Amino acid sequence: MQRKALIAANWKMNGSAALVTDMTTALTPLPLDNVDVLVCPPATLLNRFSAERNFALGAQTLSQESRGAFTGELSAELLLEAGATYVIVGHSERRTLNFETDALVAAKLATAVTAGLIPILCIGESLAERQQEKTQQVLARQLDAVYASQPELLAKSVVAYEPIWAIGTGESATPEQAQQTHAFIRQHLAQYDAQAAVGVKLLYGGSVNADNCAALFQQADIDGALVGGASLKPAEFAQICLAVTKGAKD
Ligand code: 13P
Repeated sequence: MQRKALIAANWKMNGSAALVTDMTTALTPLPLDNVDVLVCPPATLLNRFSAERNFALGAQTLSQESRGAFTGELSAELLLEAGATYVIVGHSERRTLNFETDALVAAKLATAVTAGLIPILCIGESLAERQQEKTQQVLARQLDAVYASQPELLAKSVVAYEPIWAIGTGESATPEQAQQTHAFIRQHLAQYDAQAAVGVKLLYGGSVNADNCAALFQQADIDGALVGGASLKPAEFAQICLAVTKGAKD
């Protein structure tokens, strides 16, 4: 089964109006027919992107509520109005720094899908969990929390495997390690919906850069990347987007 590749930029709390312009300039000339490209800037910058672009926009989180007295929060509806079509849900930084629980992540993902945003569910184990050989257990728990009771959401989701020990460390998972884990994730997802599990895009995230991306994209169950640091460099991010089109596999 051919899954169209997706390369997503997560700017985190970085970027500027100038980077919006530079990224748009870098991506516009690229032939991006065989890949979906997505930029997730801070929400305040969503409106700065021109409507004329060859890539999609996403938010980095959303409220599980649809409106009301939730100071500082942003609803799916507000994000859609600002131009987002995707939203990252359950990034490890939010799980850790904003105390987002598995249950909250599940609620946010459901809210996103109901509103018409495509959620990118982030899952991943810590270094300690990997060393204790608990990787599969942790990933299964994070997936079960979202999909066991709402399996219909899988067909509308993207899942990103981001091992916490590889995020921002310069130490990417090896292509073999990442493939092994992605295969486990896809197999686990088949329990909820076998057909959706074949079609769901699985992104790898964690120190992806222009040098290591091609080998990752060669792996059967890696359908693209969620890129942090390297997505702040327009030329390098453009190279990553092109690498996935060159390494097309079936
Ligand atoms: P880095 O690419 O900087 O490791 O970040 C990965 C990430 O967290 C993307 O969501």
